[in-house]
Amino acid sequence: MIDLKGKTALITGGSKGIGKGIVRAFANAGAGIAFLARNRELSVQLEEEIQATGVDCMSFQADVTDFDQCGKVVEAMLEKYGKIDILVNNAGITDDNLIMRMKKEAWDKVLDINLTGVFNMSKSVMRPMMKAKYGRIINMGSVVGTTGNPGQVNYASAKAGIIGFTKSLAKEVASRNITVNAIAPGFIESDMTGKLTDDQQKALLETIPMNRMGTLDDIANGALFLASPLADYITGTTLHINGGMV
Ligand SMILES: NC(=O)c1ccc[n+]([C@@H]2O[C@H](COP(=O)([O-])OP(=O)(O)OC[C@H]3O[C@@H](n4cnc5c(N)ncnc54)[C@H](OP(=O)(O)O)[C@@H]3O)[C@@H](O)[C@H]2O)c1
Repeated sequence: MIDLKGKTALITGGSKGIGKGIVRAFANAGAGIAFLARNRELSVQLEEEIQATGVDCMSFQADVTDFDQCGKVVEAMLEKYGKIDILVNNAGITDDNLIMRMKKEAWDKVLDINLTGVFNMSKSVMRPMMKAKYGRIINMGSVVGTTGNPGQVNYASAKAGIIGFTKSLAKEVASRNITVNAIAPGFIESDMTGKLTDDQQKALLETIPMNRMGTLDDIANGALFLASPLADYITGTTLHINGGMV
């Protein structure tokens, strides 16, 4: 239904989970795709899968905490496609523990990847987007950035930070026709939630009025909408996709 032909999209953490769902959905809508992750194997498989459908796709080995690597990915994408229309800052991790047991390294790592990574990538695409007077930036937050969650002070802080980042950058760049929005998923079927025990998953389901976990498509559809012309006048907002949790 949504046509992204002629657009190019860069997705961080595109090799699996929600990012992979977004890569597939954007490719299906006709966008030229670039995505990155730290590990190669899954990326190469997905790159080949997308290329086999006749859609342009390139994948990169990069870590969003490394500002120079982020810049190099952007340069390489510009060289191939000539522009970056859409950036999806999706890469993220959890490293949960109650604060009494949380190591400083776990705090630093989660903030670095989940929040500083968003800055690194957004800053890297800013010049070409400003020059083009066009850009769509979508940042992956989380329901816990709004609600908080015991055992996740690091993750929830990073995700709450993403909301402030999104609102601030949206105001900075609106006049250049660059929109910046966030998506706050609830609990979505992926490796991240696969790590939860059966009991934890059962307890979680009880908090979801729609009584099911979200699918990768549920989130990809939100990203498609925010990247599409249907959302041209929407900026600085957070789209909550959580089956009614919040
Ligand atoms: N699943 C959920 O229920 C849920 C709910 C709310 C929000 N979210 C958010 O949605 C996003 C995706 O989550 P997911 O569940 O799809 O996770 P996932 O299945 O674990 O996938 C995470 C992706 O991010 C990449 N990544 C991790 N650290 C990276 C780094 N430093 N640099 C570059 N890439 C990195 C991973 O690849 P490599 O490891 O190879 O780098 C992978 O491609 C995250 O921001 C997460 O916080 C998820």
